[in-house]
Amino acid sequence: MKEITQELLNSFRAPAFPGSFFLSFEGIEGAGKSTQILKLQKYLEDKNFRVLILREPGGTQFGEKMRQAILETKNEITPLAEAYLFASSRAQLLSEVVLKELAVPNTVVICDRYIDSSLVYQGHSRGLGVAEVLNIHNTFPLNLVPHLTFYLRIDAETSEKRQKIRNAPKDYFEAKGIEFYKKLVVGYDLMAELFPNRILKLNADVTMDAMTMTITEAVNKLINQNKNSDLEEDI
Ligand code: TYD
Repeated sequence: MKEITQELLNSFRAPAFPGSFFLSFEGIEGAGKSTQILKLQKYLEDKNFRVLILREPGGTQFGEKMRQAILETKNEITPLAEAYLFASSRAQLLSEVVLKELAVPNTVVICDRYIDSSLVYQGHSRGLGVAEVLNIHNTFPLNLVPHLTFYLRIDAETSEKRQKIRNAPKDYFEAKGIEFYKKLVVGYDLMAELFPNRILKLNADVTMDAMTMTITEAVNKLINQNKNSDLEEDI
């Protein structure tokens, strides 16, 4: 199995577009990502940002086809095949949408799932290896990571209960059961340790409003830091 070296980690960077930000939300099914994303969108639009919400896999015509192909498959596919499918949808999304949108000043792109989903689902839980998945992404533009990632943490049992209430047909990953979900939680916790500056881990034992507040505070801090560094460059 490949190793996660500092050199490998250093090749991942947030895109540098003045005044624009790239954010992502992560967590297992039922963590409440969609609700928090919509609240953040409203908050940022009230601050006069252009906000674009994208989902992975998907977000482009090609990506949506890929999404269908993988989530609706009834056959087991290998973790390596999964990793490349998600990475190809991501590469297309970056080139076709994310980079172009971020080039417009005052834009925030929010991704519902991004690279950490691949690191956790394919790398950790499906056993491909986190280093292997990082290596697959070690080429521009796949080596671009968000400025900030919000990891909404719930446990596997809570996820299972919420999936039962929703009662929707199970997709490829949902059908894998509770043991798989337990591994996902461990995987996400590991990613929060591996990327402590980028990933903000939020425990779901607080109210929705308290969580929204923590998220908006973190985004504000990011925006202000960026303003200050612009000022430093001007001096
Ligand atoms: P989706 O319905 O979008 O999940 P959710 O509603 O929980 O966000 O389905 C996407 C599924 O694909 C989800 O189970 C996570 C998985 N996935 C990966 O395994 N790797 C990836 O890189 C991505 C983006 C998603």
